Amino acid sequence: MEHMIDSARQFDTRPGSAVYGSLVLKLYDAWVLGISNQLAWRCGTRQVLLPFYRRHVSANHLEVGVGSGFYPAHAGFHAGQQVTLLDLNEHSLAATARRLGHTQVTQQVGDVMQPLTMLEGRQFDSIALFYLLHCLPGTMSEKACAFAQLKAHLAPDGVLFGATVLGDEAGHNLFGRALQREYNRKGIFDNQRDTRQSLHAALSLHFNEVSVEQKGVVALFVARAPLPRAPANRC
Ligand SMILES: C[S@@+](CC[C@H](N)C(=O)[O-])C[C@H]1O[C@@H](n2cnc3c(N)ncnc32)[C@H](O)[C@@H]1O
Repeated sequence: MEHMIDSARQFDTRPGSAVYGSLVLKLYDAWVLGISNQLAWRCGTRQVLLPFYRRHVSANHLEVGVGSGFYPAHAGFHAGQQVTLLDLNEHSLAATARRLGHTQVTQQVGDVMQPLTMLEGRQFDSIALFYLLHCLPGTMSEKACAFAQLKAHLAPDGVLFGATVLGDEAGHNLFGRALQREYNRKGIFDNQRDTRQSLHAALSLHFNEVSVEQKGVVALFVARAPLPRAPANRC
């Protein structure tokens, strides 16, 4: 099945999630969170990304694009706390749920670019999207469809936050450029045109308060105060 964004352009969101099988998930922390973040993207997991995550995560949290579950596993959730996980890939959901141990986890299989009917009626105080946007197909304004879907599930005082690897203009080093090229060729990433400015503009279509900072070639973003109506024909 092809996942459609609008009538003009069609996108297949599967390549951005299909790679996360159980072997890849076993290697994910060492390769992505260890080596790539430090040496290719120049944005350390424990120095930058985890402290940023812990600053914004709440007790009523939705994690989108969960991967190996490293960040929620290090969020400091107490036993019995409720966390909702959303991902297109069941292996990612299962690996994260296992890692969260005593936390009460609700797993939802879903495509963040599509209406999230499985979250109907639910609102969260925090929504995290770490390293998800660079996996989504399309331009940044097309990826904004994910913000349109998620903002309906953000509490009025809630925060949507995340991190994404930026594209060719971000100032990649040799290692980063090689990885970036290979991941885009394989369809694991679609981020060559993603810029800090286009991310800011995409978030501003849906939120009143937006901040985007750059560390290495990674954009760290925070958005609050959802705007009630999406601009026409975006999703
Ligand atoms: C690069 S991993 C990020 C993992 C984790 N958040 C981190 O930062 O370490 C991307 C995750 O997003 C999921 N994903 C990709 N496209 C998606 C989509 N359209 N909807 C929901 N999840 C998606 C993948 O299955 C994978 O689990």
